[in-house]
Amino acid sequence: MATIKAAILGFGTVGQGIYHILNEKREDLRKKLGVELEVAKILVRDTSKERVPGTRHLLTDNIEDCLSVKGLQVVFEAIVGEEPAYTYLKKAIMNKCHVITANKVMFAKYGLELQELAKQHGVFVGYEATVAGGVPVIKTMKNLLLVNDISKIQGILNGTCNYILTKMRAEGWSFDEALKEAQALGYAEADPYMDISGQDAFKKLMVLSALAFGEQPNWDEVKVVGIEDITPEQVRKAKEKGLRYRHVAEVEKLPDGTIFAQVGPMLVSKEHPLYPIDDVFNAVTMETNYIGTLTLVGPGAGMYPTASVMVEDYAEIIGKRAGFVVTI
Ligand SMILES: NC(=O)c1ccc[n+]([C@@H]2O[C@H](COP(=O)([O-])OP(=O)(O)OC[C@H]3O[C@@H](n4cnc5c(N)ncnc54)[C@H](OP(=O)(O)O)[C@@H]3O)[C@@H](O)[C@H]2O)c1
Repeated sequence: MATIKAAILGFGTVGQGIYHILNEKREDLRKKLGVELEVAKILVRDTSKERVPGTRHLLTDNIEDCLSVKGLQVVFEAIVGEEPAYTYLKKAIMNKCHVITANKVMFAKYGLELQELAKQHGVFVGYEATVAGGVPVIKTMKNLLLVNDISKIQGILNGTCNYILTKMRAEGWSFDEALKEAQALGYAEADPYMDISGQDAFKKLMVLSALAFGEQPNWDEVKVVGIEDITPEQVRKAKEKGLRYRHVAEVEKLPDGTIFAQVGPMLVSKEHPLYPIDDVFNAVTMETNYIGTLTLVGPGAGMYPTASVMVEDYAEIIGKRAGFVVTI
């Protein structure tokens, strides 16, 4: 049986999740895909820390050690930020490796370019994990787009914001109290700026815009507002009127063909598809011409939901290569 060699770039929450799932599902994946997968190298910054027992011999802090593995075919990328992730994935693609990424900050900016490069080199890019963690938004949109046009997308794309707004409404907490609890539960980072400022949701929205419309709006023209200025008083008044605050990222193709996007708090009534989405859940609503309005809901982050969709991307890529799967 053929063996596929893979490298994992980044061995934190997501990278370790990938490793665990690949081990736990090894036999299943072997049977279903007809190939053996071997994790040949793992890239980290600090090679002295053994994060998962039995993996020390796989660790390196040098990307060339990963990319020079003989027969390397797949690179899973779960590091943080634009660089060096972009440069590493570009190199991997030029070395004819399929790449699968969770890195929305990098992919929002370079996704279209990397996909074009991948096309030229006959490899695939999996990026399901860049938006809404375990919710299969990307593969659903790709399938829809085979037949439908998407005119508008609205999403709750940041679980931390949704958790805070939910607790402010349901428990009457202040923003600071809700944020503190989100941090204690591990939902929010010690530095929560990316989440609460709306920047995290913005990056995910740009990935969706590129997929749905083949382009993104000018980033400088997108209004991005966070949730830190929402007061308990505002939340209480909204509740009295039967309304809920949601932090919504939306992008729309206007009749003149321009792409309009914005990110910020929105008051929604109970008729709105995002009204019932509470706690850390993410949701994405798409308006399409044939199907109508469709909403996907699920866990937006976490080790296993995120890693799981990355391993699904791997299975889909290998399946496609073997000619029995049609998407991606
Ligand atoms: N956590 C989630 O639920 C989630 C969900 C969806 C998407 N994502 C995305 O997935 C990516 C990884 O997130 P995470 O939560 O797993 O992060 P994390 O726990 O902080 O892990 C990051 C890993 O990347 C390594 N790393 C960082 N910069 C590096 C560099 N320049 N060279 C080599 N290795 C580097 C770190 O090495 P050291 O261990 O040596 O420091 C660490 O192992 C991020 O882009 C994030 O936005 C995360």
